[in-house]
Amino acid sequence: MSENKIKTGSSYSPYSGQQESCYIEGSSGLLYPGVKIENISYPLTISAVQAAVCSCLANGDTPETLYQPGVKSDLLKYWVDEFKLRVLDEQPASENPIYNPVSEISDNIDTELQQLCDKAVTIHSDFPVSAILITEAGAISGVNVEVSVWALGLCAERVALSRAISAGITAFRFMHVYAPKSEFCSPCGACRQVLNEFMPKSMVYLHHTASAISKHFVEHLLPYGITSASLKNK
Ligand code: THU
Repeated sequence: MSENKIKTGSSYSPYSGQQESCYIEGSSGLLYPGVKIENISYPLTISAVQAAVCSCLANGDTPETLYQPGVKSDLLKYWVDEFKLRVLDEQPASENPIYNPVSEISDNIDTELQQLCDKAVTIHSDFPVSAILITEAGAISGVNVEVSVWALGLCAERVALSRAISAGITAFRFMHVYAPKSEFCSPCGACRQVLNEFMPKSMVYLHHTASAISKHFVEHLLPYGITSASLKNK
């Protein structure tokens, strides 16, 4: 029996202490790990199921089965009903292949960001966005994923970040973001808050067009933002 080589992560639950992780199996047979990622601004917390389903959809795959040990999310019923998930209260078999979000860092980020936009799931907005998170382990991509309930979709930045954390990667370097249908690429307030939780001192490169890029420290995109460090300073 071959063992899975891909590492998976653990929940980021510094506020409640309540851990949550799961896998979604797509119709491709790949397993997408998801962990709960809390935020000091509590409504921005990403549930394990949301992370795993969005990772699957952002890969052009269809969620089919939820392996849900320990998941207690209040919105679980939404995800199960929406995607008619088969729910198994067990861990997946160890030989099942796990989705690896890490790729080599490209020399041509612009082309990569453009191509990635084809994977965006924009059933409401027709506004694709792509993000590439550069980590110590390599590049991790994300696109925006919209689901039937507008409030439960995830932006490209948060798909990239939640894929990384769900894969056990937390050493972030910087992020590229591209939104081809907007004149000025601007991360939303929720993404600024979530990025500020994990990488306040890191740089975000906003690709407005192929030749116009602006770079910003995350903490400058959210002046006087609150992070878990703010609590520790008490
Ligand atoms: N969106 C992102 O993916 N990232 C951003 O920083 C801004 C907005 C997405 C969310 C939604 O799918 C669409 O763009 C319109 O808000």
